Amino acid sequence: MAVRAMFPLWLRVWHWLNAALFLALAASGFSLHLAGAGAPPLAFRPAVVLHNTAAALILASYAFYLAMLGRTGDWRQYVPRLRGVRGRLAAQVRYYLVGIFQGEEHLFTAAPDRRFNPLQQITYLLYMFVFFPLLAATGVFLLFPGAAPERVADMGGVWPMAVAHTLLAFAFLVFLIVHVYLALTASESHAGLGAMLHGGCVSVPAARPALAAQAPASQGEVDGKNDTDARPGVIPAPVAEASDTLAPEPPGGDGARHPGRAGVAGDGRADAARAGVVHRGPERASHL
Ligand code: HEM
Repeated sequence: MAVRAMFPLWLRVWHWLNAALFLALAASGFSLHLAGAGAPPLAFRPAVVLHNTAAALILASYAFYLAMLGRTGDWRQYVPRLRGVRGRLAAQVRYYLVGIFQGEEHLFTAAPDRRFNPLQQITYLLYMFVFFPLLAATGVFLLFPGAAPERVADMGGVWPMAVAHTLLAFAFLVFLIVHVYLALTASESHAGLGAMLHGGCVSVPAARPALAAQAPASQGEVDGKNDTDARPGVIPAPVAEASDTLAPEPPGGDGARHPGRAGVAGDGRADAARAGVVHRGPERASHL
């Protein structure tokens, strides 16, 4: 077993810097948006300075984020596997809309090299790799209007850029509200809000080839490749919680603690246990 952080230090530093800059952009952006309408939260001049400074810093931190995702190969975590993705997405959405309120078990348990459920993957992919660059590009055109295309969608000047920038900013606001709400409802110690602060250390198998030799039938699940579960959307949990303060596995193992899951084909922790991985931690509430 090796101990790994769910969220490496570089990611945590980037994340909280990004969150702080985002809040500064939102406050100053609102002030600029409402500048003509009475009492904005910030006066116009300080709002312009804060917005431009925070925008420059968030662009630099975004470049760092992209570079680190490329260097560590973590970018792969954001790309959903297309096979069966609709079923898994539907199951995840149903869980958030219905299951979570009925006390149902989480469908997904995170591991350091598999942090996101399919809904997270698609949301982060869209926001971080499509919306974010668009928000930044439209912002740059607002800062340097001379560089903006002369006409877009039959509108001239920077007007289309301003409309797109505002719509994207509101889309990020919606993201932030849902993201924070789900972060606060997370129940796991190794992948929730606390883990984004302290890293959320977990034990993982030291050598995957050895695992494959021990348990060929379940290796696909340990790798996160087998999601053709009997229960659509159920993604197994190949992680062992490092903390020994958590409740030990009850007699009878995984199925005994989660009767609803016993006998379900592809129960990751049962298979992971057979593969030599012991899951001791509570489940993760996966979220956006
Ligand atoms: C104060 C506000 C915020 C809080 C409390 C918060 C909380 C969290 C938490 C707990 C996680 C880890 C669990 C998960 O994967 O969902 C996370 C991940 C993430 N957050 Fe936030 N967040 C905030 C703001 C933001 C903002 C403004 C953005 C981007 C615009 C953002 C982008 C992300 C991304 C991309 C991840 C995944 C990182 C990775 O594991 O690779 N967050 N956030």
